[in-house]
Order: sequence, then structure tokens, then C-alpha cells
Amino acid sequence: MHHVVYTLFGATGDLTMRKLMPAFYNLYARGLVEETVTFLALGRREWSREDYLSEIEPWIRQFARFKVTDEMFAEFAKRVDYLEMNFTKQADYLSLFRYYDEHQYDDRQPMRYLFYFAVAPEFFPVISDNLLETGCLRGQCRVVIEKPFGSNLDDAREITNKLSAAFGIDQIYHIDHYLGKEMVQNIMTLRRENALFRAAWNRESIESVEINALEELDIGNRGAYYDATGALKDMIQGHLFQVMTIVAMEPVNQNDTDALQTAQAALLQALRPPEDDIRSQLALGQYEGYRDTPHVAPDSETETYAALKVHIDNDRWQGVPFYLRSGKALAERKTFVTINFKQIGDNPHTDRLHIEIQPQEGIALSFIIKKPGSRDETTEVNMNFCQSCNLEAHSNTPEAYERLLLAAYEGQREFFTPWEQIVRSWTWMHELREKRDEAGLKPEIYARGSWGPSGADALLAASGHSWTNETETLT
Ligand code: BG6
Repeated sequence: MHHVVYTLFGATGDLTMRKLMPAFYNLYARGLVEETVTFLALGRREWSREDYLSEIEPWIRQFARFKVTDEMFAEFAKRVDYLEMNFTKQADYLSLFRYYDEHQYDDRQPMRYLFYFAVAPEFFPVISDNLLETGCLRGQCRVVIEKPFGSNLDDAREITNKLSAAFGIDQIYHIDHYLGKEMVQNIMTLRRENALFRAAWNRESIESVEINALEELDIGNRGAYYDATGALKDMIQGHLFQVMTIVAMEPVNQNDTDALQTAQAALLQALRPPEDDIRSQLALGQYEGYRDTPHVAPDSETETYAALKVHIDNDRWQGVPFYLRSGKALAERKTFVTINFKQIGDNPHTDRLHIEIQPQEGIALSFIIKKPGSRDETTEVNMNFCQSCNLEAHSNTPEAYERLLLAAYEGQREFFTPWEQIVRSWTWMHELREKRDEAGLKPEIYARGSWGPSGADALLAASGHSWTNETETLT
């Protein structure tokens, strides 16, 4: 990166400390951050640049994937600056304007301005209006925003209109950090480059598909945000739908942004609308003790777990259920996709392909062989590829935010979610939640450290399926 000011609103928040600053450090450690780059942190606190650096240093030391030596940190720190401002006060933007004026590089190379709004969505319009009105948007400007993009579709539209007026619709980059995960990207390659999978990736060969994002952590200190959001909106509508489009879309070259986004949009378009009999499609859970979390309503009915069965009405997938599941305070942290292949005859064993996204990265294939020594019995064996066991591969695997912060700079839109997809997922999920409310479907309490509520098992059992919990270990 060169000639860029990456301006961070919300620079003292959790996201900046935990993800963004360590990701900037990683980019620096890879030699990708030139001297003409500034990471400009904006915050309300009366801090000096040195104060800010001493705040971020421990986070970078803990979360960066590259080693942090004192020398390296000191060099990286030269790229970081701090400006005290209250982003709700227009007058404060004048100091930002002056800052940009004073930090021009005098070599006729155009400066780029990237903005990252790591703040609650209700502030997005305030910030973009102020930036526009005070003349802070100059040169090439791009804005990166995180979900939630508002609390409902109308809000999201309003926010988008405001941001569009300031930046232009094509310069708004909606981050879904699941798209930046190495193994999510790898799914496209796996499907496209292997004759074996290419041929079998359809309803003729596949019985069902599971997309799992299981988390061991509970809500912690995010009660206020989470209680108003829930697992359906927090994880399924964005992250898991993205993974589903990549698993199920027509194969394309992932570097061809238009083709990729068109294929993803077509897939979402083919998603069957939510069922009237919502209990046949959705199971919800809440872990025990959730209601005692600070800022969570004592009678909260927010789901901390959701399991969903969806169908894709197109030639490739007609009749194949896709099961999506995500929850907090579960037995293990594990994000993976399982492709369950069809049974052949009455053989009880079937082939399965696991794509492990985290915490380990890898692929495991179970298939059937003759049971050694027996003439007519079969058995199941596994072949494992552990990407994270290979040190070199591991150190070459960028973290999701690292990849995405660079992609935003380089204008690689294929790593970001287009607005039409957000509208489509949002509309679908809104309809589902309405049906849930009409049916009075409430979350079932589940034990912490379990695999979730029994309703989720019943959901699959109704079609003769069961969740994959213990995946083959990739060691
Ligand atoms: C965030 C959600 O978008 O993703 C969190 O708001 C969730 O609730 C997180 O914990 C999961 O991300 P990852 O990368 O740890 O799977």
C-alpha cells in the first residue's frame, strides 16, 4: 500500500483493537505498507499519539500473527497517528480537514482516502454527512462498513442512501469477514479445479449439505448489541448465507468479480421462500444463564442458537436440504462445511467431505473400502489434509481482516458483499422472522457446553439426517 490515509472511526473500540490494528500490523510485517501510508485513529479520548500507541501495543502483541519485536513495533508505530475528535460534532471535522491538508505527499501521486466506520450503524449517516459537508472527502475515497447495516431493511436503505450521496454506491465496501477466510476462498478452488468434485457437486450425488459455525464463547460483554440482534441476524443472514452461496453457486473464476457476484445473486434468488410451517424449517435455542448477562433483558427471548433447513430451487440442488447452524456457548469452536454424499444401495456407510474453516484449516474426505479380510463387508476410511499443520502454509494464510483491509485498498470488490445481496438476504430473513413470530416459536434452553437444543436434532431427524458434530481430526 502506498499514498493512503486509512481513517478509522471508532479507533478505541474492540474491533479496532482486536482485529483491525493487528491486521494492519500483519500487512506491515509482510512488507506491504510503504512509508506513504498512515493509519489515522480517531477517538474522543484526550490522548496523545503515544498514549494511543501504548493502548494498541498489547493487543497487537496478542493478536498479530507475525512476531512483534520492539524494533518492528517502533517502525510500524511510525505509520499510526491519533487525532482527538468527536465525530458527532461538525466543528471537529475541521481538524480532520487540516490534518489531510498537512499530510499531503508532494510527489504528484494522487492520495487515496479509505474510511473504516467501526462504530454503531446509527452513526454512519452522521459521519458521512459531516465528511461531505466539511469537504473532508477529497481525492479517491472509499468507505468500509461492517454489519449490522441498521436494524431493519428500511434503516439499511436509508444508511446506504446517505453513504451513496457522500461516496458513490461503488465506493461502499460492505465487509463480511467470512469471505476473507482462507478456507472459504478455497471452497471455490476446490469446486472449480477438481474433476472429482465438479462432477459430483449436484443433487445426483449429494444427499445434504451442512454449514456450521459453532462457538464456544458466550455473549460476554456484548449483551446490548446481541440481545437486539440474535443468532439469525448476527451469524446466519450474513456469514452463513455467504458461505452457502459459495458452496452452492454455479462455479466461476473467483477473480472475476462480476461473474462471482452474479452467481451468488442467482443462488440467493433461487432460495425457496420461508415455509409456512416454520417449525419444519427452524429450531432456536438460548443457552442457560444467557438472561443473566449484563444488558440482556431478564425475560429475553433472543436466540443464541439457530438451526435452519433451506432448499434451493434450481436444477443443481432441487431436493437437497441445506442445513445451517450457529450458536454460542457450545461444546467446541468449530466452523466447517460438510457435504454428505448419497447412500449407494443399502450400504450404511456414505462418503463425506469436510471442509474445516476454523480453528483448524483443512479438508477431510471419508470414503468406503472393502473391510480388510472380509469378502462382502465394507468400512469407512478417512483421508485428511491439514493445512494448518503445515507451518509454511499456515504462516502464508492471511487473517480475514488482513486480507480484506488490503482488498479494500486494492478495490477487489469480489471480497465484499454487494448491496443487492444484502437486500435479498435481509428480505428473506425478515420473512422468516415474521413467520417465527406468527407461529410463536421460542428458543429452547440448552446447556452450556452442549451441542445445542434437542429441537435442532429433531429438525434433521425428520428427514432421516443428523448433524455432524465430531469431525475427523486434521492432525
Ligand atoms: C461476528 C459476530 O460477525 O462474527 C460475532 O458478530 C461472532 O457474534 C463472530 O462471534 C465470529 O467470527 P469468527 O471469525 O470468530 O468466526
